[in-house]
Amino acid sequence: MKVISDETLQLRSSEDIVTARQSVRKKAVSLGFGIVDQTKFVTAASELARNTLDYGGGGTVKIELVENGHRSGLRLVFEDKGPGIADIELAMTDGYTSGNGMGLGLSGAKRLSNEFEIWSEPGKGTRVSIGRWK
Ligand SMILES: Nc1ncnc2c1ncn2[C@@H]1O[C@H](COP(=O)(O)OP(=O)(O)O)[C@@H](O)[C@H]1O
Ligand SMILES: [Mg+2]
Repeated sequence: MKVISDETLQLRSSEDIVTARQSVRKKAVSLGFGIVDQTKFVTAASELARNTLDYGGGGTVKIELVENGHRSGLRLVFEDKGPGIADIELAMTDGYTSGNGMGLGLSGAKRLSNEFEIWSEPGKGTRVSIGRWK
């Protein structure tokens, strides 16, 4: 897979989340994603950005335009140096929240993407990557 371009945005406030959503939407449009696919991916991005802010204490998102043979797509990598996740399987369970959310952010983001990866280490931080192909 080839990275065509990338941009890293800070996630420190709700305004930063709005900016990240707008950037993801714009790039999805530029790749020719239909309105439904745009919305799915922006929704997934929004959930992960929220988690970065609320649980990770802030961090970054890297937005990459990628190409794999004849396919083009978007990959987003969310990173924070927060407390990490002790039990990833539990965190991925529909309805599980350690706060007062709906517990559908991580599982939903996975369903709304074509690719999903999560790494986390307690005390070190969390990295979640999602991808969606045109
Ligand atoms: N970046 C993160 N750092 C630490 N914990 C996280 C992070 N993202 C998610 N989690 C943990 O995973 C749980 C589930 O996340 P999610 O599915 O988005 O549900 P919600 O945000 O509603 O709690 C969170 O309640 C939290 O405990
Ligand atoms: Mg969440």
